[in-house]
Amino acid sequence: MHADKQKELLERLRQHLASNSTDQAPHSLQVPASHYVSDEQTELEVEVMFKRRPLLVALTPHIPNVGDYLTHEAIDTSLLLVRDKAGVARAYINACRHRGARIAEGKGSKATFSCPFHAWNWGLDGKIIARPNSHDGFAAADDRYDSLLDVPCYETAGLIFVLLEGEEIKSQVDKMMASALTDIAHLNIGNTQYIDSRVTELDCNYKFFLDGFAETYHIAPLHKNSISPFYYSNSTAVDELGEVVRLVSPRKTIDKEFSKPDAKQNALLPYCTTEYLIAPNVLLTHQVDHIQFWRVYPLDGASRCRVELNLFWPLPMDEEAERKARLNVDLVWQVTTDEDFPQSLAIHRNLASGVLPDLVFGSNEPALIYYHQNIAKAIGSERLIPLVEVEKNAE
Ligand code: FES
Ligand SMILES: [Fe+2]
Repeated sequence: MHADKQKELLERLRQHLASNSTDQAPHSLQVPASHYVSDEQTELEVEVMFKRRPLLVALTPHIPNVGDYLTHEAIDTSLLLVRDKAGVARAYINACRHRGARIAEGKGSKATFSCPFHAWNWGLDGKIIARPNSHDGFAAADDRYDSLLDVPCYETAGLIFVLLEGEEIKSQVDKMMASALTDIAHLNIGNTQYIDSRVTELDCNYKFFLDGFAETYHIAPLHKNSISPFYYSNSTAVDELGEVVRLVSPRKTIDKEFSKPDAKQNALLPYCTTEYLIAPNVLLTHQVDHIQFWRVYPLDGASRCRVELNLFWPLPMDEEAERKARLNVDLVWQVTTDEDFPQSLAIHRNLASGVLPDLVFGSNEPALIYYHQNIAKAIGSERLIPLVEVEKNAE
């Protein structure tokens, strides 16, 4: 985030904290249970939002050097992300063109990929290098079988996007990310190092995951014994940048910054949690001094999802930074799994049982409203109903 923008947001937060206020949406929102528990709607979201729009699947520091690779499961598609010899991030379907075995697992670095099944050897450019011991058995196979299947891939601002269906990715990324791209470019994600991951599967709709990070209203009650002492709960700056929702939530250390006499020194990022909700399924967080990257995917319909956390730390690393980084992975995972996820599961069960017809998002929860309205708009859903003050008074 540019320094001038940090200063502007800092001033907004200063005013909010002084008057115990927060950014507001123009209305509150009624959200029916079906928005979360309908398999049919989830299927539509998968088609429209996960397959036909760019997906943010990795960060530049997942594959920083030539030959680095990362495998990733996007919905039902196994991807192999590779940094090729020219330094370009490429995405292939992780399926050998012989009989479809996965040619790589996990993450690492290789000069070439040898398929575990019959040892066909593939280059970083996705082209066949050799078919050992095949006795010319593939002489009649045409050149379709000489290349891995390519998926459109676009890397910008330290972010790596793919497009599962369609060709034109750059213009779609530019449109959906808009000014969030320059904002995120200032986080210098390319100059961080991958530390570690955590992954779990949950019996709830995938959207609950982002909901848990889309407001600070819950921090004081739900996290009272963990992170609440470190945050100002419920004073947040929320903006829509393209289809991305940015939340900046102040930590109590921000008082130090406010008390500095020289306004030119003002800095926002070290005293806040800065989150980018990138619909449908990514949360990118700048947390004081490091990056947390979360992806969530629906699994088999509306009522199950897979959540993955990756943590990145600024370079250069030393022993102390490594220790601190690993501690942060454990800390954030523990608070989320012990305190946030149980709420998501309970809410999903209440909605799925049919006893609870709908939920309401307050205007003091603007990021929730913007995130869900973006989803509804993309799939042409009219299920979400804005509630305005004037109507309530007229009743
Ligand atoms: S499936 Fe890969 S070499 Fe046979
Ligand atoms: Fe939380």
